[in-house]
Amino acid sequence: MNDRVLIFDTTLRDGEQALPASLTIKEKLQIALALERLGVDIIEAGFPVSSPGDFKSVQEIARQIKNATVCGLSRAMAKDIDACGEALKVAEHFRIHTFIATSDIHVNTKLRKSQDEVLDMAVAAVKHARRYTDDVEFSCEDAGRSNIDYLCRMVESAITAGATTVNIPDTVGYTIPTEFGSIIQTLFNRVPNIDKAIISVHCHNDLGLAVANSLTAVQHGARQIECTINGLGERAGNCSLEEVAMILQTRQGLLGFETGIISSEISRTSKLVSQLCNMPVQANKAIVGANAFSHSSGIHQDGVLKGQNTYEIMTPESVGINKNNLNLTSRSGRHVIKHRMQELGYKVEDYDLESLYTNFLQLADKKGQVFDYDLEALVFFDQQKHQQAHYALEYLHANSGKNIIPSATVKIQIGNEQKTATAIGNGPVDAAYNAIIEATGIHGLDIVDFKLDSKGEGADALAQVSVVVEYNGRRFNGIGLATDIVESGVKALIYVLNNTHMADQIDQHKQQQKIVGI
Ligand code: KIV
Ligand code: ZN
Repeated sequence: MNDRVLIFDTTLRDGEQALPASLTIKEKLQIALALERLGVDIIEAGFPVSSPGDFKSVQEIARQIKNATVCGLSRAMAKDIDACGEALKVAEHFRIHTFIATSDIHVNTKLRKSQDEVLDMAVAAVKHARRYTDDVEFSCEDAGRSNIDYLCRMVESAITAGATTVNIPDTVGYTIPTEFGSIIQTLFNRVPNIDKAIISVHCHNDLGLAVANSLTAVQHGARQIECTINGLGERAGNCSLEEVAMILQTRQGLLGFETGIISSEISRTSKLVSQLCNMPVQANKAIVGANAFSHSSGIHQDGVLKGQNTYEIMTPESVGINKNNLNLTSRSGRHVIKHRMQELGYKVEDYDLESLYTNFLQLADKKGQVFDYDLEALVFFDQQKHQQAHYALEYLHANSGKNIIPSATVKIQIGNEQKTATAIGNGPVDAAYNAIIEATGIHGLDIVDFKLDSKGEGADALAQVSVVVEYNGRRFNGIGLATDIVESGVKALIYVLNNTHMADQIDQHKQQQKIVGI
């Protein structure tokens, strides 16, 4: 019998806190639903006390997720724990995660308290959290650099106080596998009540060892791994979910562990997170990089043609990458699209076939052949459109060239109204942006990042623009995709405007609640 290892995903908390711009509630919900479909056991949805937006998104995720346990983070403070309890109480299953630092460096320099004071705070926090739920996780921040005697004492006290999971983070990614394995082993040898809790690990990747450290910890008794999609997270990131899950699956014969991860969902979840978070995945990244299953050298290609296992230790299909042998063109019918979507892992209820087919035909007319990436992108943008439709681009015309002043005209749907404006700029994208600002009357947008990527292959690739915009002291992400660069840039800005509109609505709602004293 294989031992079950729980997968605790913290993409929406540790991952999100390290993004250049925060995600909207709808984007977080989209990721949470994808994580649930991927089969993660626990979704850490956010840090409710940190902002009204975070509180609301944790609450919304708690409301909609049915199978996974939804978790919120709190410092070892009653007000943080109360915010978690309040945001999570609507969930089917929820966990409160509370933490305090245990290393001398953190206790003396950051907290400026004695070890005993910190221990008392931890115990009080766990007891306070237990008033809301029986599922309480306690983390010893910077455990990797903590004094082992104090760490043992802290773990024992947290379990006695009622923690059902105790997490041992390598917060700064400092330890090496033998060392981290020995910390976990020592806890199992010395903490008398350790069998009353699940031991979890949370490793950062500063030295590139997060996955190796997590795996070693499991071999020494840990049964929960905290990780993120694409390894997102503070600084160099956290343990990568897809890597650790595929190690446990691919080497199950040797290791003897299993997880609840449905590996065929990995590729799609990775792409969704990368898109929404505006964090591209490096091409040679294990499991989810564009080159992870492609063979370049002639010798390798020859080997794979003779037998896939000559150079592949797992199949692309096992992580949800399906090879396409149908050419999708404007002559392809709806049933072909539906069939291909099914091969890509989409159920019919995941997308609107009519809308996808209409967009597919438009794209096929422009590009000739439509690839898997294009189909997935069309579904992605269709979902965004349905979810955030306050602003929509109805018409765009841009003029540029040598020795002419770039200009653009846009027609924008704003709620029930349409507005048209023309402007000039230092290039066609700038002119279109000026026209949008004129049409919408929204001022104070500061474009802090503008990135252009090609998606797909060769001359058939689509242009993807990602922008980061500062507005009212907050940063918003936007992405746009089109065959035309200017259109893609404009779509990215419209995406941002919809996000700012939603944020304004949340702020107004909060303000009204304050006025009526809720
Ligand atoms: O890295 C860390 O120690 C954390 C804790 C809050 C679990 O993220
Ligand atoms: Zn962390």
